[in-house]
Amino acid sequence: MRELKIAPSILAADFANLGASVAEVANIVDMLHIDVMDGHFVPNLTIGMPVIAALRRVTDLPFDCHLMTTNAIEYLAALAEAGATHVTVHAEVYQDPTPVVAIATELGLTVGIAINPITPPEAIAPFVEDVTMLLVMSVEPGFGGQTFMEAVLPKVETLRKLVDSQGLGTDIEIDGGISPANTRRVWDAGANVLVAGSAVFAADDPVAAVMKMRAAIA
Ligand code: DX5
Ligand code: ZN
Repeated sequence: MRELKIAPSILAADFANLGASVAEVANIVDMLHIDVMDGHFVPNLTIGMPVIAALRRVTDLPFDCHLMTTNAIEYLAALAEAGATHVTVHAEVYQDPTPVVAIATELGLTVGIAINPITPPEAIAPFVEDVTMLLVMSVEPGFGGQTFMEAVLPKVETLRKLVDSQGLGTDIEIDGGISPANTRRVWDAGANVLVAGSAVFAADDPVAAVMKMRAAIA
């Protein structure tokens, strides 16, 4: 039985009131999605260890750290130390994530692999058994607030078939432009971890936005 998990992306939260923004939704979400960007893999800079450590002091939620960085492997220990529980690295950087998985597992982190809109699911198919999450980007990584790319849904379907046919419990996450309006479609395609930044934190009522997403698949 597939479980819906909501992962609000704090990139869209009010950084001057981050603790309060997280506290508002903490009881109704499954994890926090934390976008770590390095200005190299993507043309933007966002969040690093000090913010992760500060958030760890105010919540026990799992931290789903999406590493949009060219040298993620060098920061795994610092991320674990700061309070990360999961790291997702990009297949465009790590064609073979085995070394990342080895180090991260040693540190007590679970690992996911992400594919950009242009990257085919075949790039990560050989590694589905080695990771706990597959992330399909539904926008070009780098910025929140972009328009959902419907064209990635066949990749989600392919990965869902692969995971289910092998009897694996691997999560399939989708990230970019997710909102109550497309929740049902991405769920039906096979995603079960839904990242939503703007749709939650830029909403007038973030709690209602999360509840709408849950209701969409009920
Ligand atoms: C984009 C990030 C996303 C982003 C999602 O590179 O990976 O997690 O925060 O934001 P929305 O939901 O606004 O598209
Ligand atoms: Zn992300």
